[in-house]
Amino acid sequence: MTLQRRIAVIPGDGIGPEVIQQARRVLHWYQEKRSIPLELWELDLGAERYLRDGTTLPRELSQEIGTCAAVLLGALGDPRIVDSRHARDILFGLRLGFDLYANIRPAKALCDRLVPLRRRRARDIDFVVFRENTEGAYVGMGGQFKRGSPDEIAINEDVNTRKGVERILRAAFEYARNHGCRRLHMADKSNALRFAHELWSRVFDEVRAEYPEVEARHVYIDALCFYLVQDPSAFEVIVTSNLFGDIVTDLAAAFQGGLGMAASANVHSTDRARVGLFEPVHGSAPDLVGRGVANPCGALLSVGMMLGFLGYPEEELRLENAIRAALAAGAGTPDIGGSLGTEGFAGRILEYLEAL
Ligand code: NAD
Ligand code: IPM
Ligand code: MN
Repeated sequence: MTLQRRIAVIPGDGIGPEVIQQARRVLHWYQEKRSIPLELWELDLGAERYLRDGTTLPRELSQEIGTCAAVLLGALGDPRIVDSRHARDILFGLRLGFDLYANIRPAKALCDRLVPLRRRRARDIDFVVFRENTEGAYVGMGGQFKRGSPDEIAINEDVNTRKGVERILRAAFEYARNHGCRRLHMADKSNALRFAHELWSRVFDEVRAEYPEVEARHVYIDALCFYLVQDPSAFEVIVTSNLFGDIVTDLAAAFQGGLGMAASANVHSTDRARVGLFEPVHGSAPDLVGRGVANPCGALLSVGMMLGFLGYPEEELRLENAIRAALAAGAGTPDIGGSLGTEGFAGRILEYLEAL
């Protein structure tokens, strides 16, 4: 008997449930048509639950999630919860709690029409960002002092450890080596952050020496944004810190046609036995909720990354090709110039999945 792989599904907030509904359809298709043994475990976590009973991510539940093969997450964030307490507890509870230090965010355009840059085509946009996912400004170290007074002080420490920096750099170099990428860029701000990012620069110089076949370049993060817009085709692998990675991957999403098109994986990359977290790059898009127009591609491509992670790389490719084919036939939601709703667009993608 084949072992069932358990997938924890957290639809979350806003358009999260709308795109995850389509991800579920695709996963059911894989269960039925490709006999992939997956068991979906729906979790009621997010803003509604938090407002109802104060629950964010209970410890016992988190432990059980840790026994799953993967987590599929929609989005977290709700205008009613101004401090985003629940979103931080859940999202960082998973990313930091399971030490999923590599946030892998591909920027791959699937259709010429969606590339917003003049004279650029889909083939010019094909790079992957390795975002450090467990440290930096995201660790929650800091505090507020004299809050609300004119002398108020607010501090968020930027925490960078030798181990944390080295492992994300290594993960990016390993990826480059294993995928035949010739070029890797490491982006930091060592000219201003002389302690934290000097560490990044120094460790980068050490690690790159082990990968002589990869042309490794250092670039300051501000210049990276400039070069990316100027010539995205010059990039294959980018590795950077948590906060910079967050920002640069929204920029990268624009190259692919918008936030609705971007997918991500959060993994502890040297330990594939550990649960992985898969989620679209976009948030809960409060402006779109309930209108049935959210683009499901980011969520579906995240399902693809999850299938690759679970040992089905050919299915990841099949799903990507189905989306490519649907886009080529003009299918799409309004954010990418189409006229279909979330469900209709996913339906077209399913038709191509069936046909490929
Ligand atoms: P957002 O990604 O939700 O939306 C930014 C823009 O992109 C909006 O114009 C939105 O309409 C559009 N967009 C996003 N997803 C789309 C989709 N699938 N199809 C079509 N258009 C789409 O970012 P925001 O507005 O800055 O944040 C909204 C909330 O989401 C906040 O609470 C934020 O903290 C949260 N957030 C959560 C995650 C996550 O769960 N991983 C990621 C980003 C933001
Ligand atoms: C993302 C989001 C999150 C992040 C927010 C919601 C905390 O923007 O996944 O890109 O900054 O990591
Ligand atoms: Mn983000």
